[in-house]
Amino acid sequence: MSAVEDKTRAAEAALEFIEDGMTLGLGSGSTADIFVRLLGAALESGSLNNVKGVPTSENTARVAREAGVPLIEVDQADKIDVTVDGADEVDGRFRLIKGGGGCLLREKIIAHASDLMVVVVDETKLVESLGAYALPVEVDPFGFTITAKKVYDALTAAGVVRPDVKLRCRGDGNDPFVTDGGHYILDCACKALADPEQVAARLNAIPGVVEHGLFINLARAVIVGEDDGARVLE
Ligand code: 5RP
Repeated sequence: MSAVEDKTRAAEAALEFIEDGMTLGLGSGSTADIFVRLLGAALESGSLNNVKGVPTSENTARVAREAGVPLIEVDQADKIDVTVDGADEVDGRFRLIKGGGGCLLREKIIAHASDLMVVVVDETKLVESLGAYALPVEVDPFGFTITAKKVYDALTAAGVVRPDVKLRCRGDGNDPFVTDGGHYILDCACKALADPEQVAARLNAIPGVVEHGLFINLARAVIVGEDDGARVLE
């Protein structure tokens, strides 16, 4: 079965976590987009009612508007009941690498503010240990080359051997990719992260780092779309 079908099965299963009247964090990426479209269909058919979304990116806001999902401004949300979002890697302790789409800052703000974070992935995202996927680190453009050196040093100090820290560029060109919040992304190829908590702590201590893609102690449920259905890990 294709990754899209597996992602769709995971997104369908995530609808089971949603109840009438909830305020939802709407994640970013292709799997989250599928969930948003399914949510729109459920609202249209009346199987769900009075649900509002807080999008984690401009792209998700656009998808939600197209799908007919009512949106509210993040600062109008008294509480966020459930956030449904994708991930680039998920380990056995529900630690995640996120940010492949460059939306990690808003995704983390919303996940952290939610009563429940549900992660929707296809099987390829499950890993024994994090780190094969390059870790995205969102940085302020001011002094980003200084920050990149500090990020390299932090990763090395946390046990990563010769990390490759690269500025993310748009398409094939040399122009920096700019996030919805106006920041740059450093993609840090580490091969393996033996101690994600230490990496997170060291990155958090660097002034130019706005946020990083390690999501630790945030996900409470992971839904894995597979050939014959969806597996809910809690
Ligand atoms: C965006 C993200 C995405 O959730 C992550 O990249 C997974 O995307 P997809 O569902 O397309 O595989 O973190 O910043």
